[in-house]
Amino acid sequence: MKTMLELITTEMEAAFEKAGYDKELAKVTLSNRPDLCEYQCNGAMAGAKKYKKAPFMIAEDVAVYLKESSYFETVEVVKPGFINLKLAPQSVADYLNQMSETEKLGVEEAEEPKTIMIDYGGPNVAKPLHVGHLRSAIIGESVKRITRFKGNKVIGDIHLGDWGYQMGLIITELKKRKPELPYFDENFTGEYPAEAPFTIGELEEIYPTASSYAKEDEEYRKEALHATYLLQNGHRGYRAVWNHIMNVSVTDLKKNYERLNVEFDLWKGEADAQKYIPDMVQMLKEEGYARYDEGALVVDVQEESDKKEVPPCMILKSDGAALYDTTDLATLVQREEDYQPDEVIYVVDKRQELHFTQVFRCAKKTGIVSPNTRLEFLGFGTMNGKDGKPFKTREGGVMRLENLIREINDEMYKKIMDNRTVEEEEAKKTARIVGLAAIKYGDLSNQAGKDYIFDVDRFTSFEGNTGPYILYTIVRIKSILAKYKENGGSAEKLSIRPSGNVYEKALMLQVLKFNDVFEAVCEETAPHKLCAYIYEIANEFNKFYHETKILSEEDEEKRSGYIALLGLTKRVLETCIDLLGFEAPERM
Ligand code: ARG
Repeated sequence: MKTMLELITTEMEAAFEKAGYDKELAKVTLSNRPDLCEYQCNGAMAGAKKYKKAPFMIAEDVAVYLKESSYFETVEVVKPGFINLKLAPQSVADYLNQMSETEKLGVEEAEEPKTIMIDYGGPNVAKPLHVGHLRSAIIGESVKRITRFKGNKVIGDIHLGDWGYQMGLIITELKKRKPELPYFDENFTGEYPAEAPFTIGELEEIYPTASSYAKEDEEYRKEALHATYLLQNGHRGYRAVWNHIMNVSVTDLKKNYERLNVEFDLWKGEADAQKYIPDMVQMLKEEGYARYDEGALVVDVQEESDKKEVPPCMILKSDGAALYDTTDLATLVQREEDYQPDEVIYVVDKRQELHFTQVFRCAKKTGIVSPNTRLEFLGFGTMNGKDGKPFKTREGGVMRLENLIREINDEMYKKIMDNRTVEEEEAKKTARIVGLAAIKYGDLSNQAGKDYIFDVDRFTSFEGNTGPYILYTIVRIKSILAKYKENGGSAEKLSIRPSGNVYEKALMLQVLKFNDVFEAVCEETAPHKLCAYIYEIANEFNKFYHETKILSEEDEEKRSGYIALLGLTKRVLETCIDLLGFEAPERM
């Protein structure tokens, strides 16, 4: 279904042409003065020079033809040459009714669906999830849902950090604690135990302990590096420990992501990319892309237009070890082999931007991906505490994700119990649903690239630009719709009627924008615009609700028209929050 902007643009183009002007001028935008009009066109100003005519006259010429169109209630020409438009209530109602007939609320699926891979989450195995991983998960999940809604084939890949030095650290510490385990017996040829020699709790203690030992003790660090080296070169016992670490860790990660309503299609990781490295390195050497620089193998990626230095992409260290660049390049080789994506979007902390610039340039330059593959870095900012510094626990440590979620849920539970409309059990369940919305909306409503302040009080508030406010609005609509039914309201498909008052029209105009907004959100990979949109809908709905008798409206037709509008409003809101990755409870 065409968006309203497209439809109006078509009308506008026809009017410009009929009046004898170039239709290129007929650009229509949403009004930035909603008090004066709903849509506007400033093309007459742009045409003044070309036609050597006052913009006002051009606008007047065009307006003559616009006035013939049934789309508009008013067409006004304002000095110096703005064309201000208000839609006719009938055409708004028609549009909304059509929209509600479509499955995707007027959004048209991509004519040529793309294969898009989204690299997000990126947790490091054996380390507890912390708030830094929260943003990647939340933003990535939403981007996945948005691009998928557009009809693309979308594959979300968690890209585990499962191959680095942290593995060597854990192996080293485990060996010190339990040297008797068969994994450390070089002569052992039997089958290794199926059960892991640690629990997730132990694993999460082993890692930081080993990490701090290694920082203090050079010998220990060397041992851990050597263990990493052996693991990466196929040491049988270490590989078995690695498998245990993976199983225990991934089970725990799955639980955590499930709680966040975050789901991955692929659970691949850095380790999976390793087997692609030798051939890739050989290609880079043979085709003359790589050169040695002080023993290290590098690929130059500096471009002439660069204002700053972009250091070469590091392929192998002088001791032959692979690096972060290598792994990401090899992962692209793998992705190319398995999926031939048209686009890969990386949702990663923006401090890693340089790394991705290097990797992207190297992948393009060396033909690892085709020149048409779009590699996009969606870098996000830091989540800060109220003090403006990276979010920490009260004690100053790294905040674990679980604890953060618990803190929000407890606060939500208190607020819900203060309202005292639900039982304790239900309140707990509701608190989890609303708590998640508070966290996700708090994050997504900011432009991804910016830092933001995580403020429990603000995020959990039922008022203002928050997740709970949005959910509260949905719940309010649900309850009106339920009452309408209880009172014997018609169960048949109702239709939206031309608006009767300004509040109703304002709400309608918001709802009607959904497909226009969605296109921009998708095009710009910008979930924050979806948040801004539903916040506006919620505001318009609540104004309408306070100013209008809905269920007590006596005119049956009017009443059912309101109900139809509420039904569509609810669908739009629910679709949007689903695209953002959360849901609404039945009651609050
Ligand atoms: N594991 C990395 C980290 O915690 C993030 C991985 C991001 N994705 C990637 N393809 N490099 O910093």
